[in-house]
Amino acid sequence: MIANAPNPDSTEIYTMIKLMTAATAALLVMSGAASADQALAQKNACMSCHGVDKKIVGPAFKEVAKKYEGDATAKDALVAKVKTGGKGVWGAIPMPPNPNLKKEDAEKIVDWLLSLK
Ligand code: HEC
Repeated sequence: MIANAPNPDSTEIYTMIKLMTAATAALLVMSGAASADQALAQKNACMSCHGVDKKIVGPAFKEVAKKYEGDATAKDALVAKVKTGGKGVWGAIPMPPNPNLKKEDAEKIVDWLLSLK
């Protein structure tokens, strides 16, 4: 029956989607540890200025975690600063504001970076 014959085009597309999904999963696994939150930081371009353990333009996230260790008010202050930008804590170079970053995403990223050791 012609109606039930497999459609080669859609089969090909499904195979491509499967391959792409597998590749994305493999990348997440390879990037290691807290990958979901780190991926969020990457997606929002934080990682172009911050390394996990090395300074780029802004301080290494591990240095930030060390500085605010045990400071219960740090999270809210950092979430606010990530959204509005600011300078003077780590040097003269300012961090530009990220007004389009959702608050819950900023919170996830800050939770993740403060948990780095
Ligand atoms: C254009 C470069 C740049 C980008 C992009 C950037 N930052 Fe920053 N960030 C900086 C600089 C520079 C500082 C140091 C500011 C200071 O001295 O107060 C900083 C500081 C910080 C701090 C420490 C603030 C403090 O008061 O101790 C946190 C946390 C932070 N950034 C998180 C983020 C997150 C999360 C993102 C992504 C949404 C991001 N940054 C994107 C440059 C950047």
